[in-house]
Amino acid sequence: MIIGVLNQKGGVGKTTIAVNLASCFSHAGRSVLLVDADPQGSALSWSSVRAAEPAFAVVGMAKPTLHRELPALAKNYDVVLIDGAPRVNELARAAILASDLVLIPVQPSPYDIWAASDTVKLIREARIYKEDLQARFAINRKITNTAIGRDFSVALDQFPDTPVLDVPLIQRVVYAESAARGLSVLEAAPQSEAAKELKRLAALIFPNPERQAA
Ligand SMILES: Nc1ncnc2c1ncn2[C@@H]1O[C@H](COP(=O)(O)OP(=O)(O)OP(=O)(O)O)[C@@H](O)[C@H]1O
Ligand SMILES: [Mg+2]
Repeated sequence: MIIGVLNQKGGVGKTTIAVNLASCFSHAGRSVLLVDADPQGSALSWSSVRAAEPAFAVVGMAKPTLHRELPALAKNYDVVLIDGAPRVNELARAAILASDLVLIPVQPSPYDIWAASDTVKLIREARIYKEDLQARFAINRKITNTAIGRDFSVALDQFPDTPVLDVPLIQRVVYAESAARGLSVLEAAPQSEAAKELKRLAALIFPNPERQAA
């Protein structure tokens, strides 16, 4: 399964979610490839500041031909996560076409809702070629007990072909702290609330990972 973590808007949490889901799936016993499809090379930088090799493979492939090159490589893994680039439409199109499921991280702000429509539009265009393409919003950096947090899921209902995943990721400092050390949250703080949320999100995307990995 190829999961693209994509949003044309910058700074919404694409790299954070791609790296941490890669870690969750790998922790659950799956073979995982993380593809850095962003010319900024953030996922590659993450893996290069680590003291030890990550438990999953990381490659750079920021190319508009990604959708043609990735399937052959993807066959060797249970799960492939694509960390997408912001803004560049031709890279986003290639990453969307390569994906079975697109996760669109969004922060609870009106700007993110307006910007989300650009990414949803690209996904709808891709469905002309790839009918089964799935898409889900993943709410990131939610601040607990705020009205904007509550109203936000409702505002996303305007995209009926893109349901919202039921496990929002909360705004927590452990995301930046772990990334600075080249670690996933699961590695840096395995007992943290953030780690529990991430595991729940991973299980929602890929149910019963232990059983399927066996
Ligand atoms: N849930 C969270 N809580 C706190 N900080 C977060 C959270 N998610 C992401 N961040 C921080 O937000 C910043 C942007 O995140 P990230 O780099 O993952 O976004 P991005 O969408 O990949 O950005 P770009 O579009 O530049 O590739 C980073 O500093 C990251 O540590
Ligand atoms: Mg990024």
